[in-house]
Amino acid sequence: MRTKFILFGLIFSLFSLTAQRTATTIDEESKVPKYILPELLKSDSGKKIETQIEWERIRRPEILEHFAGQMYGKIPGTLPSPEVRILEEGTLAIDDKAIRKQVQLAFKHEADSICMNILIYTPNKKLMAPVFLGYNFAGNYLLHNDPFILIDGKKENELSGDSFEKFKTQKRGERNSRWAIEKIIESGYGLVTLNYNDVDPDKNDFSDGIHSLLYNSYQIKPEDDQWGSISAWAWGMSRVMDYLETETLINEKKVILFGHSRLGKTSLWAGALDQRFSIVISNNSGCGGAALSRRRFGEKVSDITTNWSHWFAKNFQKYSENESSLPIDQHMLIALIAPRPVYVASASKDSWADPRGEFISAKQASKVYKLYGMQGIELYDYPKVNTPIHQSIGYHLREGKHDVTVYDWTQYIKFANMHLN
Ligand code: GCU
Repeated sequence: MRTKFILFGLIFSLFSLTAQRTATTIDEESKVPKYILPELLKSDSGKKIETQIEWERIRRPEILEHFAGQMYGKIPGTLPSPEVRILEEGTLAIDDKAIRKQVQLAFKHEADSICMNILIYTPNKKLMAPVFLGYNFAGNYLLHNDPFILIDGKKENELSGDSFEKFKTQKRGERNSRWAIEKIIESGYGLVTLNYNDVDPDKNDFSDGIHSLLYNSYQIKPEDDQWGSISAWAWGMSRVMDYLETETLINEKKVILFGHSRLGKTSLWAGALDQRFSIVISNNSGCGGAALSRRRFGEKVSDITTNWSHWFAKNFQKYSENESSLPIDQHMLIALIAPRPVYVASASKDSWADPRGEFISAKQASKVYKLYGMQGIELYDYPKVNTPIHQSIGYHLREGKHDVTVYDWTQYIKFANMHLN
């Protein structure tokens, strides 16, 4: 009798758990307000966009202008070419499987300067390698336990100040799990990376980083329509690309831009601004990245403009609790990458980034790929976990939390093989 009772209890709780889970999902989705997306293929003046030429000449520039002026902020000018310092010539690394090269780009304007410290790995014996290019969050040396990776451009015995303190607490290779370096190299790709803080430290302070190098004499912060940090980081990706165009180890026609989270937002915006990137990948980019703002699911415009206001132009604050008045939504950002392949990846336990909103956004962007005679993901429904879709647009919902894993890299390499080989 007792066993029967326990068994019954077990079945009942299993049933109610499943019911509860389903209920939560439906329930959560029911919180999404009714919304109407701004039309991708209708110009601001109401003209229907029916051809590639109309897209490129009319609609694409309009959308780009809205994102620049209302959301990420315009990049106010250009700087003279940087001084290029070769910190390490190509040297064998990672059990002779790779060549490691380290380069510093030094930008200067009057009293202000920034140094971008770039780590390059390419597969040994492969010239003109295709590469993944992506920022890391805290320093190149955290990506691999390779003892020769410089720390903020310096050798261990030359460290002082913040770099010294950081090196005491954060060990070489500590962030290796997010960077499948061996796998990337074995698959015939290189990796180019640098710390995003080199370009603009990630804090609400516009006196440091690249911003001040481009100020007018009266300026102490950007104008309302000028660049926040995401635009600054996007600018930095383009400067790395300028350098890669001169680097014989890599094939500059096969540079795949990658970014995770805030840096996934950055890779989409950088890829929209600079058409030299041949593929763009955003991993778990969420609000302000691939996810639709109008769905108001997970992180909202009001959250991001409160907690991370420095990522955006000041103008973006106008849309807090007022998404419907935005002239754009994030499906348009993805569409700006067309006809180049673009990959949007979500994670099942990352509801803050609204996985479904990221999928719908990528699906909507397919309309522009269609103008180029290419198949996006218009024929697909929101997929089950770990069931990737690879067309001109790629999408997957990885099982698990907000992160970058070997599963993600495996998909990116497959997608790159499909489009670049
Ligand atoms: C926060 C932020 C997100 C962002 C993430 C990250 O969670 O709210 O928008 O994507 O940080 O960059 O790690």
